[in-house]
Amino acid sequence: MNVAIVVFSETGKTLKLAELAREKLLADRHSVQLTRLQTDPVFDSKHNLPEDQIKFTNLPDLGSASVLIFGTPVWAFRPCAAGRKALRDLGPQLKGKSVLPFITHGFPWAWLTGTSSASALRRLAADFGAKALAGVVLSGSMKKGEDRYQAAAEKIRNLLK
Ligand SMILES: Cc1cc2nc3c(=O)[nH]c(=O)nc-3n(C[C@H](O)[C@H](O)[C@H](O)COP(=O)(O)O)c2cc1C
Repeated sequence: MNVAIVVFSETGKTLKLAELAREKLLADRHSVQLTRLQTDPVFDSKHNLPEDQIKFTNLPDLGSASVLIFGTPVWAFRPCAAGRKALRDLGPQLKGKSVLPFITHGFPWAWLTGTSSASALRRLAADFGAKALAGVVLSGSMKKGEDRYQAAAEKIRNLLK
């Protein structure tokens, strides 16, 4: 399959999960294009602009992709504004495609902002006529190590099998 992965990531965690998922999907012989969204003007936690002022400079053309894997962190109990805005901007390209949303967040329990944020992205994708696949949530943890990232990337891989 042709898979587009699009992420907004401020501190790199969402990007790291996206990169691991890309490795696994390439091993499964999918074709994968990964885009880390850039904004102009700057959007980050110090420049937390409202959605209508967020402009992306590298929003990809999804024409050849049949699946969009879309990742964003949770900010203030929901997908961060750049994530919501990017999915809306991509919306006109989503009809008939499968969309697999994923979320990274700081709380160590998915039920606390993670699952609800993934559901919000699924609803948004479905509103644009996409087939929304199950969402994947990577919660925070005090534990160091790659295991949680590997497990979440594996979930993404399995959802495309
Ligand atoms: C402004 C801000 C608000 C946040 N709000 C939440 C929140 O409500 N719930 C949560 O679990 N994590 C929250 N976090 C933590 C991030 O979701 C988490 O660190 C995420 O993995 C960062 O992803 P990134 O490294 O791709 O930017 C917040 C982080 C920031 C900067």
